[in-house]
Amino acid sequence: MKNKYSVFVHVGAGSHSLSNFSTYKSVMENACKAAIKALEEGSSSSAAVTIAIKILEDDPVTNAGIGSNLTRSGTVECDASIMCSKTGAFGAVGSVSAIKNPICAAKSIMDNESLGQQEIGLIYPMLLVGKGGEIWAKNNNIECTDDKSYHITVLFILNASSKTELVDNGLLQDTVGAICLDRYGDISSGVSSGGIALKYEGRVGEAAIYKAGCWAQKFYDSDQIKVVGASVTGTGEQIIRSSVAENYSTQVASNIDLPINQLQKLLLQFLDDPMLQKYSKKNVGIILMINNEIKDGAITELLAGHTTDTMGYGYMSNNMIHPKVMSLFSIY
Ligand code: GLY
Repeated sequence: MKNKYSVFVHVGAGSHSLSNFSTYKSVMENACKAAIKALEEGSSSSAAVTIAIKILEDDPVTNAGIGSNLTRSGTVECDASIMCSKTGAFGAVGSVSAIKNPICAAKSIMDNESLGQQEIGLIYPMLLVGKGGEIWAKNNNIECTDDKSYHITVLFILNASSKTELVDNGLLQDTVGAICLDRYGDISSGVSSGGIALKYEGRVGEAAIYKAGCWAQKFYDSDQIKVVGASVTGTGEQIIRSSVAENYSTQVASNIDLPINQLQKLLLQFLDDPMLQKYSKKNVGIILMINNEIKDGAITELLAGHTTDTMGYGYMSNNMIHPKVMSLFSIY
């Protein structure tokens, strides 16, 4: 057993309201502390990620779970996913409304997906959308609600025209996520989102899509093992095109350049991507955790970057008494 464990969380990339800073800070601190406690007690990285994201979903200040952005018809439809480096398993729900904590349903799908198939040969799913996700949740004792207003906290501002108005109402911030390294050297990553504001009903964003919203993988080099996790936020339609979570994890893990330099290059490429030139703003944010296993121990690196005005993130590891939450207002 290894004795290092860490958590890295984010409350999305976008344009966060300054007035909510202390709330973002305290929810990230609570998520970090709860995940570290679980890891201390020997929980797996995927269980700890689920605990952290559940706290982020339950706080109305974030665009995930309670407080999610609304669709054009004023409903909430959530996406969430989780992946574990130990098994390579992935689980996701898309466009679900009745599940209190979408990350719990994603985790349950992932746990089954890691088995591959049932005895009679039926393949376990990776992603369930809408009613299918809700039926899975009910059948697997994941808490659901019939109250259609359960996740709704903001007024629907269809005619909002000024950015200030959207920011002040929490409509221009995004997706939450977490990455955990456990005592056994495994990393899991997860993500949960209410999606973009005023989205079309049935629209699914990167938070539910394999390779786009989260990634966790073990890379073997000649003399080294690297375990990498990523959790992504931004505009789903832009992120899905280039499989950001998997693509950035692979490039950061395998490039000879310093990881931070490689990440900066990737973000600049995102801004210059010819396929994205039709968009006036290109929005992506990412947190990455790299655990480099070397002969006598391990070195854990944390990276974050974004192309948006703001992104909030925080972290904690076994040797810290308090979590550290970074400013929402650094520029990539
Ligand atoms: N990042 C949230 C979405 O685009 O769905």
